Amino acid sequence: MKVLIVGSGGREHAIAASVKKSKKVDQLYCAPGNGGISALAECVPIGAMEFDRLVEFAKEKEIDLVIVGMDDPLVGGLVDCLEEAGIPAFGPRKNAAILEGSKAFSKDLMKKYHIPTAAYENFDDPDEAIAYLKKSRFPVVLKADGLALGKGVLICNTLEEALEGVKTIMLDKQFGTAGNRMVVEEFMTGREVSVLSFVDGKTIKTMTSAQDHKRAKDGDQGLNTGGMGTFSPSPFYTREVDEFCKKYIYQATVDAMAAEGRPFKGIIFFGLMLTPDGPRVLEYNARFGDPEAQVVLPRMKNDLIEVIEACMEGRLDSIDLEFEDNAAVCVVLASDGYPLAYEKDKLIRGLEAFEGKEDYYCFHAGTKKTEEGIVTNGGRVLGITAKGKDLKEARENAYEAVKWVSFENKYMRMDIGKAIDEA
Ligand code: AMP
Ligand code: GLY
Repeated sequence: MKVLIVGSGGREHAIAASVKKSKKVDQLYCAPGNGGISALAECVPIGAMEFDRLVEFAKEKEIDLVIVGMDDPLVGGLVDCLEEAGIPAFGPRKNAAILEGSKAFSKDLMKKYHIPTAAYENFDDPDEAIAYLKKSRFPVVLKADGLALGKGVLICNTLEEALEGVKTIMLDKQFGTAGNRMVVEEFMTGREVSVLSFVDGKTIKTMTSAQDHKRAKDGDQGLNTGGMGTFSPSPFYTREVDEFCKKYIYQATVDAMAAEGRPFKGIIFFGLMLTPDGPRVLEYNARFGDPEAQVVLPRMKNDLIEVIEACMEGRLDSIDLEFEDNAAVCVVLASDGYPLAYEKDKLIRGLEAFEGKEDYYCFHAGTKKTEEGIVTNGGRVLGITAKGKDLKEARENAYEAVKWVSFENKYMRMDIGKAIDEA
């Protein structure tokens, strides 16, 4: 079959690597892809938000399956457009992708269906938000309602900070229209875990757990980023936590979406916080995490295409997800300065070191193929993933492999997965 992946990051590279392993796939395309993906797929220069051109391309090439990796096109309704044109697409329709697209929606859903999450209020009016904050206990968390590249969340320790936050989100609209509404949420404490799952509208099957490191600097300091590294599984995601989430969170979310007339088919990513009062949902995403996918997918034993087809045909109950009994760590190599200003177009050396090495992966995030070779083309440049028999070994292997590649202004965190020492 012919498959088209939509997206251009490390997540899409990891998806492409898994799809490539499937015996069912003869031809793989990626729009727009990147320098690394071009070794596995034919990259076509169509942006993920160019819905008409994507539909046209899929029709022309008689694509059998489109996998939408990114949040923006999902929330914008790319799956609906493809389906209307008769092209099978994997990912939630627009009315279900709202689970990620609107934090106010997801909070209301959780409240209505008693899914454990932080207490909150939604606001359309900045004055009402301010009046509420004046009576609040601190810290509080302010969240822009819409998509904001993971940056629309502000933790405010004082009323002054919160008032500044209302200005940033709702008045100055630093996150654009994402800030037309705002959620004010109770501040919670605890360890964070990401659990990704396949969903077919009624059945949910969760994948192995992972943990992301969102801050730019070691020790969880510095600015929030798209993710500086991940490890899988999370030793903090115990059997007890899993049982709680199975009972109160996972199926409950899928059932809630179906009951609302918004059946969810695709990937649900549960961002969980393990609070002293038990697991709580921090957020939902409607797609694979990035860089969670870079540690979860390499450990998956199933044929990804078979699982996706089962989701699309509503027979996920017939699939047993299987993961290797090992661990993986992904260290992101970024351009120094990320997530603020950074330079691009630096030649990347040493990529060939990964060729033919099992259990080591060099997923490209922001790279571009040029005549001189592969060059940097983004803040997050590469995701270096290594497996090991346990987390400790996987971490040692990943930090060995990051030495194989070099480029000017290469930056990484040195403590990815260090938390496992406390487990
Ligand atoms: P979100 O995009 O909603 O996952 O938020 C981004 C990050 O902000 C999370 O990964 C947490 O580290 C933090 N965060 C979000 N909500 C809360 C909360 N209610 N309490 C404490 N930290 C939070
Ligand atoms: N790693 C977090 C995300 O993909 O949103």
